[in-house]
Parts: sequence; C-alpha cells; structure tokens
Amino acid sequence: MNSLCGLGHSVSMTDTLDLTAQEREANLDFDQLKQLVGLVEYDAKNDPFPVTGWDAIVFVSGNATQSAQYYQSVWGMDLVAYSGPENGNRDHKSFVLKSGSIKFVIKGAVDPNSELVEHHRKHGDGVVDIALEVPDVDKCIDRARSVGAKIVREPEDITDEHGTVRIAAIATYGDTVHTLVDRSKYEGPYLPGYCEASSTFVKREGQPKRLFQALDHIVGNVELGKMDDWVTFYNKVMGFVNMAEFIGDDIATDYSALMSKVVANGNHRVKFPLNEPAVAKKKSQIDEYLEFYCGPGAQHLAVATNDILNSVDALRANGVEFLDTPDSYYEDPELRARIGNVRVPVEELQKRGILVDRDEDGYLLQIFTKPLGDRPTVFFELIERHGSLGFGKGNFKALFEAIEREQDRRGNL
Ligand SMILES: [Fe+2]
Repeated sequence: MNSLCGLGHSVSMTDTLDLTAQEREANLDFDQLKQLVGLVEYDAKNDPFPVTGWDAIVFVSGNATQSAQYYQSVWGMDLVAYSGPENGNRDHKSFVLKSGSIKFVIKGAVDPNSELVEHHRKHGDGVVDIALEVPDVDKCIDRARSVGAKIVREPEDITDEHGTVRIAAIATYGDTVHTLVDRSKYEGPYLPGYCEASSTFVKREGQPKRLFQALDHIVGNVELGKMDDWVTFYNKVMGFVNMAEFIGDDIATDYSALMSKVVANGNHRVKFPLNEPAVAKKKSQIDEYLEFYCGPGAQHLAVATNDILNSVDALRANGVEFLDTPDSYYEDPELRARIGNVRVPVEELQKRGILVDRDEDGYLLQIFTKPLGDRPTVFFELIERHGSLGFGKGNFKALFEAIEREQDRRGNL
C-alpha cells in the first residue's frame, strides 16, 4: 500500500434534500439515487434527529491489511485513506475504501492490548459502527439524551489541517454504535488522523468501473422479543419512520422462521430492517447469527448497483460465492405471472441465480452472498431497484430455504 498525506477533496453539505458531498463526488444525480436506493423528498424541519445519510460503515477485521485488499480486488473498491502506526496510530490499522457514494472502514488491531482484539475475539469479523452523516450533531445528541438513549461519545470537535469535524456517538443493538458526523467544515479524505491513501492494485481489464454505487440498507439481527423495542428506539430516538413494507410474521419456511420490520430515516437513504428469530421446528437463521456473533449485530449489507448482471458476473469471476437458487424458482408459473416484464429475460437471471420481486411501485432484482467471513454472520446483498421500494418480500421463502441448506451444511439447522 502506498499512503500519501495530502490535500483532500472539497466537501460541502447543505440540507438533507440535496445530494451529499459523497454522492456528488461519485457523480450520482438525484434521479439515479432515487432509482438506486429509493430516495424520497421529505421536510426535515420537524425532524427531531435529522439524518442526511450514511457516513461510513466501520468493520472490525482479524486482518485489516488483507481485508482491505479483498475489498479492492474482489469488490472493486478504491483505497482512499489510511490511519496506522506510520502516521501515529499505534493502536490499530484502519483502511478507508470507497465505492460510489459509500465508504467502508476496515479496522484491525496492531497493539495486542487494543480494544479491537476483545471485540474481534467476541464477535469475529463484523460491523462495529454504522456511522451516519447529520447536519447538527448536538441537536441529535440532545434528542437522544432526552429520550434516554445511551450516549457513548459526547459531542466534540476534532481538527486537523483539513478542517474540523463535529462528532458524537450513540449505542444501538448489541455492541454496535451509530457515530454521528457533521463534516460540513472538513475537507480531508476521511477524519482527522487519517491521511489520503492509494494502492498499487490494478483492476482486471473489462471489469466495470464500480461493482456498486451506493448502500441501500443494513439489516440488524436482534434477540427474540426485542424487534419491537428496536423499532421503537429508531422511531423515538432517531425519528425514523416505519416503511410501507412493514413485514409481519409471515416470514417462515417449514422449518425456521423470523420476524422483520423496517425503519428508515426521513429521506430513506438509511433503511434498517430489524429481524428477530421466531419459534419454528428448527433453528432460525437469526439464532445461528446470534450464537456466532455472540449477540445482536448487523447481518447483511445491501449494496445498490445499476447493473446487477454485470456486477454478479464480475464478482463471481473474482471468487464471490452466492447462495444458489433452484431452477424450480424460475420455472414456477406463478412467479413468471407475478413478475411480469423485467429488463432482461428470466433465463439471464436464472443463469446467475438472481431473484426478482415486484410490488405496486415496480420491481427489484437481488442476490445474496454466502457469509463473507469465517463465522456464519455477515453477508452482502446486491440489489437493483426499478421503482420497488421493498426488500424482496416475495423472495423470502426461496431465500430462507437457500440459507437453510447452507445452515444444514454447517451443522447449524
Ligand atoms: Fe436485504
């Protein structure tokens, strides 16, 4: 890795209806965002906890140096910033990677006494922080405090030669936090303490420029009986709304089951489906997650692409393993009737195992990877939206049966 400390990009934030600086830098426009992630206009005036969008998703890794290479070589991300012993951070290495408007930050302990060591021992590789960009950190923290949320970092200014970031954090499910960042007065590549970085990695010829452009949603898995508490947390503390697709208790196969409800911030950039296990004949996939993650945490990250066929082809060529979809899924006349016309022949989807779902607003294409790390916990979804603002409700049964087949192979069903 080559790291360079230099001047960053010019960043400016106005209000929640505009594109974020990260989206403008990624050359996305409002209509694209609307299609990619279901962005909606809303009035932030009465929002007690205005959230602009995602800031970054922070992962803890058992080997951040290698994970950072994986996200570049496999997921087509670009290294943009770095913090580590070479620039004064003796505790851990931290690599900031970017694809379109979303940043992933991969942290791994250098110091054997780093807090990250214990976090990784307990949870394995996973998401430690779902950081959100907010226009007013203090307003959000005042709100969170007044309704009894746990503040894990009081608001503070952190400054370097690129400017000042206002930052704070609140606790959410498990050991996961939401760092709140106002970067309107900051022009550095990520946060103070990081320097601009680049890599010698060269993308394979013919590979699309980016394999995903944005982050669509992050699913949280919580314990049995806790889903509604967390829905209430997001409603009451963060002013999130319940999305139209508010899934009831209909998510079950013959064996394992779960319940799920979806909350979103005002403009719908940030969407959190929240799952809890349901009692069924065999072990729920959520129970498997809770056991191996040692408690609640982020289960899957759905990344938005405008060309899922190309992205899946490239990712498969890069070695990503996706869940299998049986041919019977595509041959079901009911499915064919329900999905109507989509932009490619069903055979093209079948070849790649891509799922399709339609609702009153349009359709979506989606596919799920197998777990990305050693433990059966975090995985990714690729999603291509065409009007649908849902989460693929019509595919849950097929998806869960595919997950059960994998659970069974792991001896966890
Ligand atoms: Fe999803």
